Amino acid sequence: MIDAIECRNLSHRYGDFTAVDDLTLTVAAGETVGLLGPNGAGKTTVVKVLTTLTPPQSGDVRIFGMDSRRETMDIRHNIGYVPQQLSIEAALTGRQNVDLFARLYDVPRRRRRARVDEALEAMQLLDVADALAGTYSGGMVRRLELAQALVNRPSLLILDEPTVGLDPIARDSVWTRVADMQAEYGMTVLLTTHYMEEADALCDRVALMHHGVLQTVGSPTDLKAELATEQAPEPTLEDVFRHHAGSDLAEDSTRRGLKEIRSSRRVARRAG
Ligand SMILES: Nc1ncnc2c1ncn2[C@@H]1O[C@H](COP(=O)(O)OP(=O)(O)O)[C@@H](O)[C@H]1O
Ligand SMILES: [Mg+2]
Repeated sequence: MIDAIECRNLSHRYGDFTAVDDLTLTVAAGETVGLLGPNGAGKTTVVKVLTTLTPPQSGDVRIFGMDSRRETMDIRHNIGYVPQQLSIEAALTGRQNVDLFARLYDVPRRRRRARVDEALEAMQLLDVADALAGTYSGGMVRRLELAQALVNRPSLLILDEPTVGLDPIARDSVWTRVADMQAEYGMTVLLTTHYMEEADALCDRVALMHHGVLQTVGSPTDLKAELATEQAPEPTLEDVFRHHAGSDLAEDSTRRGLKEIRSSRRVARRAG
């Protein structure tokens, strides 16, 4: 069977800064895989290449066997993507937001209404479909974005930080919907997150990334089992991460945060 994602030796630089360093990762069709790492790890950069929004600078990416440099449009027809930045239009209703995507994706006119309703229903938004999206809660907005990504009936769904900034209940409802969809349609899901517990619960396998480098890949159960000792028989995925990244995550992402602000200001000055 053809893999959903085949990413070989992918590197990406912004100027002289290496954001992704020689990443090789394969995702089988039907798998749910989490790309994990603190802010600045390089997750969004990888996602942008996998969705074909950014061409690979070096290395090769194939999505269902299609080459990301040559078969860009064919790949786009097969994927649904929810970006990290919010992508809904507050002044349109939920239904209009999804319909917009159905048009973008060229869903045939006579099937459009049914597809839009199907996607809204899968995200449990049919009741509020005709309210303005600007009135939705954070969790509902995220589910609306999922409905937009689903209207195309993608084989591969790519979610960049789908639950960042949501309260635990809203997060839970997003995860439940993703898991249900996965079970129902058997699609492949790649998601990024820095919430380790969530990835642990939801993903078949996780890929831990730090400073642009893939540290380890495996099922949460296996990764935790490898680390278990008599003194600490039940390590968490966070422990696994710390073990492989060799540093304190919270501290590191703060330091990284400052560095990022400084470097983006430098870029802004250069651009200006
Ligand atoms: N357009 C850009 N220009 C310069 N640096 C960038 C740009 N986009 C991202 N970076 C830097 O690349 C690194 C990885 O960013 P990103 O892929 O967004 O990571 P993540 O999604 O894991 O937080 C960060 O240090 C970030 O500051
Ligand atoms: Mg990101």
